[in-house]
Amino acid sequence: MYMRCLFSFAYLLCLTLTVLAERPFELVVHRGPDTLRCTYLALRETQQFRALPEGGYTKTRLLHTGEERIQYISHEEERVWDRAEALCGGRDGWDFPTLLHTIAPPTLSAEQIVFGIAHSETIPLEVEPLITSGDSSNRVDLVFFADGYTSEEKAKFIEDARRLAEDISGNQTFYTVKPLLNFWAAFTPSKESGIGTGGNTKDTPFGLYRDGTELRSVWYSKPEVARKACFSLGDQCDYPILMGNDPLYGGLGGEFTVITPSLANGALVLRHELGHSIIDVGEEYDGAESIDYFGVNTAQDTSLDAVPWAHWLTKAANSPHSHLHNETAAAPRVERAAMPLQEYAWTLLNTSVSWSTKFNSSGTYTWHLVRFSLSGIPHAEDLRVALDGKDLGWVPRQDIGVDRWHYDIRIDSPLSPGEHEVTFTLRSKEAEGEAQLCSIEILEFGDDDEFVSNPGHYSLYPTFSEKNATTYRPTNEDCLMRLVTTPNFCKVCTEGLWHALLRRVTLIDTLTVGCAPSGPSGERTLDLALVPLAHLRARPVDVEESYEVTWVRDGVEVREWKNQTSVVDAGDALGSYAVQVRYWTEEVRVDPDRLLESEVEYVVTTRCA
Ligand SMILES: *[C@@H]1O[C@H](CO)[C@@H](O)[C@H](O)[C@H]1NC(C)=O
Ligand SMILES: *[C@@H]1O[C@H](CO)[C@@H](O)[C@H](O)[C@H]1NC(C)=O
Ligand SMILES: *[C@@H]1O[C@H](CO)[C@@H](O)[C@H](O)[C@H]1NC(C)=O
Ligand SMILES: *[C@@H]1O[C@H](CO)[C@@H](O)[C@H](O)[C@H]1NC(C)=O
Ligand SMILES: *[C@@H]1O[C@H](CO)[C@@H](O)[C@H](O)[C@H]1NC(C)=O
Ligand SMILES: *[C@@H]1O[C@H](CO)[C@@H](O)[C@H](O)[C@H]1NC(C)=O
Repeated sequence: MYMRCLFSFAYLLCLTLTVLAERPFELVVHRGPDTLRCTYLALRETQQFRALPEGGYTKTRLLHTGEERIQYISHEEERVWDRAEALCGGRDGWDFPTLLHTIAPPTLSAEQIVFGIAHSETIPLEVEPLITSGDSSNRVDLVFFADGYTSEEKAKFIEDARRLAEDISGNQTFYTVKPLLNFWAAFTPSKESGIGTGGNTKDTPFGLYRDGTELRSVWYSKPEVARKACFSLGDQCDYPILMGNDPLYGGLGGEFTVITPSLANGALVLRHELGHSIIDVGEEYDGAESIDYFGVNTAQDTSLDAVPWAHWLTKAANSPHSHLHNETAAAPRVERAAMPLQEYAWTLLNTSVSWSTKFNSSGTYTWHLVRFSLSGIPHAEDLRVALDGKDLGWVPRQDIGVDRWHYDIRIDSPLSPGEHEVTFTLRSKEAEGEAQLCSIEILEFGDDDEFVSNPGHYSLYPTFSEKNATTYRPTNEDCLMRLVTTPNFCKVCTEGLWHALLRRVTLIDTLTVGCAPSGPSGERTLDLALVPLAHLRARPVDVEESYEVTWVRDGVEVREWKNQTSVVDAGDALGSYAVQVRYWTEEVRVDPDRLLESEVEYVVTTRCA
């Protein structure tokens, strides 16, 4: 906790206390998991990390490059340096790129800064606020960086970034936690417009490109520039988003969230990738690698201890276990489904040969779903999708054009036991070279008693990896971590989101203690500025929430000050004032680290007059 003094007309003297926990130190290392050679290291003082474990916090993740990313946070700077040397050898031998700061750079807003990059090159970074709610030292900050936008396209960049920020925080996805977030746009002009294709980059700051021309991942070629750009912003850059100026689907998650401003897909990719990086949860969709299923939305087995959302399970009145009055005490039930086919085809279609694949059904399920995604096929007559020769009547999403989209065709009858075939037949010669089958999946489900497909039902839903290994997720399709076209997280991920954000944000922004001129001895004023949640929101949200504020003077609760954010006491009063703030929201059911509480104390040692 530190304090600074302010003077104003209304107050003779006023002290504003910011209630931030002590700033810890953060180490980030990239290294080969086999060679143990470090390729990048960053060390800096960083934003508060509440409920930091005694020995520090460590998180290890595998990057797309095959390297591991190790993050370590501790209050003790020496420990962080020791860890750095334990991972990368003595610092004299560090011959890889490093970013080192022990004092966090100042918070910047709406001003231009210029920072150096390797070999004394510089790139300018013009930072503009998009949506802000408070000082970056007590908020989680998301920054859009521009790639492939020329100086003439600056307005387009700001507009694209603003549209996406508003999409994911206006009335859905991140809207309830919006007061904990800041969104910024950091513009750097590119010499060329657009992103590279065929594995080649254009002359742009971060070198974004596609492998071929087909719509799939968008890669970056200059991570060192992106790292430096984000690092230079200090507390103002918690989650960097590299946005490539291209109208169509593409993206990547991981160290940087890479997106395009595609009208259909930009927000969809952004919120899914931010789900991974902010909440630290894995996939819920089928067909990923086993290591991609982790976090609060994943149960590795069906024992109740292994289910992170045990406290969200729906009491199922009609379940086979309903005779057990205490549902949670029993083994939780598993919804009955199977995945007889899953393929990330990523294949260009042509008119000479249909693309088809076969699968076997056990014939024991009640209904099934054909789920696929396509790009480059704007018209219904361009493509025939058939199951066992029967046309499924595919029609493209309205106005999708050549962009990628996801389709579900539900068939309310069982598949017969034995072999089946699904076929994609391209009928338009003009679409060749662009028409792409991205993914195809067949799912089979039990009847209504065996598989509850209703939204809002929390149970154990099997998710199948690429190798058909089973993990479990909380809902059928409520979460955007499974169904990327849905705009919201399920309750389990939303609770995880609150926990993740409140580790870096405390509910009390400031307590301002001052004197007001009134009567002979004046008045003691105490003004609390809270993160604008509950009744303090600029725009109310459709969830139940409240703030409870308790004032304690010299160890005794002052009941008449209950729930007040501004209180007045006698100007000649001395002693201690403590204020305890508790936030409650129906979106959080457990709070083991007491992140939904904050407290500040101030001792008055001089009288007002
Ligand atoms: C949010 O607003 C968008 C755009 O106005 C609209 O399409 C969407 O349905 C809204 N979502 C909710 C949950 O109200
Ligand atoms: C139900 O079972 C759980 C887990 O054993 C236990 O914690 C809880 O108290 C039980 N509730 C009732 C109403 O018996
Ligand atoms: C996965 O396993 C289930 C159960 O054994 C089976 O019914 C299904 O066909 C398998 N799917 C694939 C893609 O192998
Ligand atoms: C046409 O598509 C089929 C099925 O995907 C594929 O096997 C074949 O190689 C393609 N032909 C050409 C000329 O690309
Ligand atoms: C389906 O099952 C039959 C009988 O076991 C087998 O011969 C065939 O290869 C299977 N087909 C597929 C696509 O796995
Ligand atoms: C204070 O606010 C809490 C949360 O809204 C509420 O439960 C409580 O009744 C309030 N107390 C008073 C005295 O207003």
